[in-house]
This record gives sequence, C-alpha cells and structure tokens, in this order.
Amino acid sequence: MMGRLDGKVAIVTGGASGIGEGAAIRLAEDGAQVVVADRNLEGAEAVARRIGGKAFALGFDAEDIESTQALVEQVVEECGRIDVLNNNAAWTSDNIGGLDRDLLNTTPETFDKAWHINVRSIFVACKAAVPHMIAQGGGSIVNMASVAGVRGGSGAMCYGVTKAAVLRLTTAVATQYGRKNVRSNAILPGFIGTPATLVHVPDSKALMPFLPFHRDGKPADTAALIAFLASDEAEYINGQCIAVDGGYLAGDARPSRLEMD
Ligand SMILES: NC(=O)c1ccc[n+]([C@@H]2O[C@H](COP(=O)([O-])OP(=O)(O)OC[C@H]3O[C@@H](n4cnc5c(N)ncnc54)[C@H](O)[C@@H]3O)[C@@H](O)[C@H]2O)c1
Repeated sequence: MMGRLDGKVAIVTGGASGIGEGAAIRLAEDGAQVVVADRNLEGAEAVARRIGGKAFALGFDAEDIESTQALVEQVVEECGRIDVLNNNAAWTSDNIGGLDRDLLNTTPETFDKAWHINVRSIFVACKAAVPHMIAQGGGSIVNMASVAGVRGGSGAMCYGVTKAAVLRLTTAVATQYGRKNVRSNAILPGFIGTPATLVHVPDSKALMPFLPFHRDGKPADTAALIAFLASDEAEYINGQCIAVDGGYLAGDARPSRLEMD
C-alpha cells in the first residue's frame, strides 16, 4: 500500500517516549524511514524494534552541539537524505526536578539549562539539517512547542519562556528558507498524557473540567498533525504554530453561571 511519506527519511528527537514515540510510530505507518533519536538509547531501540524494518535508533544528547551535528550527519550518511526533522527532545519530567518555578525562585543556571535543552538544541539541529534539505530540494521541520509558550501560569517560568522562543525560531526558519522549499512549523500540545505529564502533573484529572473535551490528549493526536505537516499535502503550510489542545487555548470550558441557573 502506498503511504504519503513513502521515500522520506525522518529524524524524530525524543523518540523514545511520549509525543516523540507516537510520532515515530505514525511517520513509519505513513511510509517514512524513521530514525528514533534520543538520549535514552535503550528506550529508542525498543521503539524502533516495535516499529520494525522502517525504523532504527540512534543515541544523542540534544544539549550537546557536536552530538546533535553527528546525529544529522550519520542519518544523511546512512539514509542519503533527511526530509523531516521533528524536534521533541526537551526538558520534561525526568530532569526538571522542581527547579523551574516562578521568577524569584528560579536560578539563572536553571534558565541556562532550559535554554540549552529546549531552544539551542533546535537551533543546532536545524543548522545541521537545513543545508541537506536545501541541497536535496526541500524538507519539513516540525518543532514541539507548548501551550505554555503562549499562556502563562504561576510557575514553570523557564519552560514557558523557552517554548515561546521555539515558536519564534520556527517562524524565523520558515521565513528564511521557505523559498528553498524548507518548511518549518510548530505544534503547541495542550495536556497530552505522556510519561512526562503523568509524573509532572499527577492531579491531571482536576484539569479536565477546564477543557472543552474532558479527556487528556494522546500522542496519536499530536502524531496525526506531525505526519500531515511532514507530508507533501502540507506543501503550502509554512511558519504556522498549531495547537493540539482539545480547545484549551480557546477558553475556559467550565459551565458558565448563566448555563447553571
Ligand atoms: N506531554 C505534554 O502534555 C506536552 C505538552 C506540551 C508540550 N510538550 C512537549 O512535547 C515534547 C515531548 O514531551 P513528552 O511529554 O513526550 O515528554 P517525555 O519525557 O515523555 O519524552 C521526552 C523524550 O525526550 C528525551 N530527551 C530529553 N532530553 C534529551 C536530550 N537532552 N537529548 C536527547 N533526548 C532527550 C527523553 O529521553 C524522552 O525520551 C517536549 O518538547 C515537551 O515540552 C508536551
């Protein structure tokens, strides 16, 4: 059966878990050769094994510039091209460790670390991949931002600020390389039930009444959009930041007083 991503090579960072894992599975289902790239090599290998022949795993550290460059070079060497770069690796549950709080209770060191993992990592990965995309006639970058990049809360200062920067990095690349057929789009997930959120937000059920859909999102929900943005069907979609949040950013969905009266 023909898939809409047949012949394409995709790197999925953070592919060992959660949103990245869902993306790797879906991109392969749609026909892409998928590189599951993660700091957790064992986890990445397990995901690649589950996908089967269409995937293989590579270890890398998104915080490390050389490691990220080496990842891209190895993929080009082994697969001959890179059509899709899906950046998911970020500072989530396993390393946030309660350090990212409000302005007065967060250190500059935490800010720097968040900046490196969440923003510089994508800057470096795009710098490494875009020349190959240009040389082969195009490509699609899909960055994982967050609703936290546009809507604030009482804590997670660094997370929100860095995710806002991911949105601007996305539009910058879209503007600069669109004419070379390199598209760059971002996704703003809302509450997606992944290992990260289940640890980080243990009382997630309490959030559900605020959402128009009274359920959390699934990695399959974000994966559907990643696969579409990766495909040629999205060839005129560039520089967009699209929420997959069940309507969270649209407003507070709890019944209004008027309805309750
Ligand atoms: N789950 C949500 O509700 C949600 C909401 C908004 C945004 N996001 C974003 O989606 C992305 C994925 O989140 P998730 O919930 O699937 O998280 P997760 O913790 O389940 O998965 C993150 C993966 O990234 C890998 N990773 C972390 N740091 C890395 C590094 N330095 N180098 C290489 N790999 C690294 C981890 O090993 C892990 O496999 C993140 O960018 C996150 O900020 C998630």
